[in-house]
Amino acid sequence: MHQEPGLSGCGKRHKHRRRRETGVHYGPAGSGRGGVHTDQTVRWNAKRGTAAILLSGPLPSTPGDPVLADGGLHTGARGAYSHGDSAVARMSELVAASPVYQVYPRSFKDSDGDGVGDLKGVLEQLDHFQYLNIKSVWISPFYRSPMKDFGYDVEDFRAIDPLFGTMKDFEDLLAEMHNKGLKLIMDFIPNHTSDRHRWFNLSRTRDPHYSDYYVWADCNTSAPPNNWVSIFGNSSWTYDEVRGQCYLHQFLKEQPDLNFRNPDVRREMIDIIHFWLEKGVDGFRMDAVKHILEAAHFRDEPQVDPKKPPELVTTEWDLYHDYTTSQLGLHDLLREWRADMDTYSREPGRYRFMVSESYDYHEVDKTMMYYGTPQVKESDFPFNFYLLDLPQNTSGLWAQHLVHLWMSNMPKGKWPNWVVGNHDRPRIASSAGQNYIRVINMLLLTLPGTPTTYYGEEIGMENINVTDSQIQDPAGKYNSSLSRDPQRSPMQWSNDTNAGFNNKANVTWLPVHPDYRTVNVEVQKKDEGSVLAQYRFLNTLRQSELPLHRGWFCYVHTDANVFSYIRELDGLDQAFLIVLNFGKESVTTDLSSVHELPDQLEVLMSTNKANNGKVLRKSHILTEAGVGLVIKYSTHTRFNPNHSGECYISEKACYLRVIDILYKC
Ligand code: GLC
Ligand code: MG
Repeated sequence: MHQEPGLSGCGKRHKHRRRRETGVHYGPAGSGRGGVHTDQTVRWNAKRGTAAILLSGPLPSTPGDPVLADGGLHTGARGAYSHGDSAVARMSELVAASPVYQVYPRSFKDSDGDGVGDLKGVLEQLDHFQYLNIKSVWISPFYRSPMKDFGYDVEDFRAIDPLFGTMKDFEDLLAEMHNKGLKLIMDFIPNHTSDRHRWFNLSRTRDPHYSDYYVWADCNTSAPPNNWVSIFGNSSWTYDEVRGQCYLHQFLKEQPDLNFRNPDVRREMIDIIHFWLEKGVDGFRMDAVKHILEAAHFRDEPQVDPKKPPELVTTEWDLYHDYTTSQLGLHDLLREWRADMDTYSREPGRYRFMVSESYDYHEVDKTMMYYGTPQVKESDFPFNFYLLDLPQNTSGLWAQHLVHLWMSNMPKGKWPNWVVGNHDRPRIASSAGQNYIRVINMLLLTLPGTPTTYYGEEIGMENINVTDSQIQDPAGKYNSSLSRDPQRSPMQWSNDTNAGFNNKANVTWLPVHPDYRTVNVEVQKKDEGSVLAQYRFLNTLRQSELPLHRGWFCYVHTDANVFSYIRELDGLDQAFLIVLNFGKESVTTDLSSVHELPDQLEVLMSTNKANNGKVLRKSHILTEAGVGLVIKYSTHTRFNPNHSGECYISEKACYLRVIDILYKC
């Protein structure tokens, strides 16, 4: 077995249990060395979804056009061990190579002009993913739903909501995505259904088969069975007059929790997983998993402030969720689903991916459980939400701290991942400030592992202002500060009517952001210094350069402003130095003590394009606030052998130039 150096020294494991959750080329064209070079790349045949090893392929070397002239897509190499049995190899090309791009279907593209995005709209925009070199797309729920929680309240797990289209639209979309080498990841929502689901109606009326499909308890109209509260506020119990009992809902009252202690419920959910896998979907994002099981004894949860009068205990932050989250048996369920999904994964190119959603901010060990164990597979990765907190403190130290929280706690051999936004959280460009969006995207795309990009982050979209009368989100109706509408505004495609989201005047389910005339895909495509162009360059680069895709990740320097790291691969004499200024001021970083770096460093790409192609001395690396540099350098000296405490790799790999392969070493 290869050795897996752990990280040590920096950062402590988060153990505070009793805490609540917080919540292009940009290098000089035709530079002497022939622009960027990959020493080994795998050519991805976009049409067939197959890979073959290529010898040195050129990479984005023309300003403004980071994608290969022949239109070929490159991914990092896997050839030599794509059939190996390691966690990384098994995860396959699907997620390892590409960011996961999240589409919120209501807001992506509206093909029929009713103001709400739809599946045909996604189909119309597949070129966007290809343009960005994105290969896996997670589409938030489009099941039939009364839309109380915009699709996270499912009325029929086997039907498409007419608002989004028909089953045929879905099948056409999936076929076309596969045709273009794109993978489709769906939301799977096991914790609850809509109160309009057929099962719930049968359960209310005590149909013998369905009576125990949900979590029911005796109560009266004034007193719930216990003090449990919903994530959206107030008691998580609602009295049902038909049945004369209370049902549990950890989210909205229109989202009754399923009873996973009932084997019939477990079977139903597995059947639904099969249904979609048989249709050919490539994986699932498992929604709200920590809530799936509750303690059967229904005891009160302990109050965070024991002195608080019980009637004032109304929010999730008032209680420790000892009995409503992460209950014994949860991981057995997820592992069973995973094993089942794997039975559909055995054909080449048919890998089925699983990512789980669970916010356990101060209980990182709980999060890491979703990776499974070396013996039993669970998620490919649980979403890593730590970078959502970047805006809390814009500094190099803070950025490194958040990155290290994951790296130092992740089980050996697992694959990291990074999220900076989703449909539940304010947009990072707004909370961090527009000045930092580029450097954040640079971080995301140069860290080891899989980045997630929420639609619009590739162009720097910001939150919209939503007035109280415009609020759509039920969470916002309960408490306007909890509204998730600001981050769900229509995708900004162009400076046409409604930002090109649709072409009907004044019909969009949420307002379009007023900045859409400058912040849109069409305009940014024409600007080689745009957020979009930089995203595209970096995404192509990371998939083409083995050190970025499969190499070591080593910390070299961190201070109040700068976070800097090296990406290198044993056996390859090309490596990358990344220097990111997350602070508030310009600084000169002195890396003269890092002997493994050459004295002269050439900037391949910077978030400030004026830096592109500059040659810097390692003792004087100047960055302004919000500026990041990608430096590619040649070396025969690796950094990692002398700094194992600051270096990390998921699975050690070495490159052998003479026969151009990557092998486990
Ligand atoms: C997840 C979703 C969120 C939804 C909730 C209930 O957290 O991301 O949008 O409201 O689950 O399904
Ligand atoms: Mg539940």
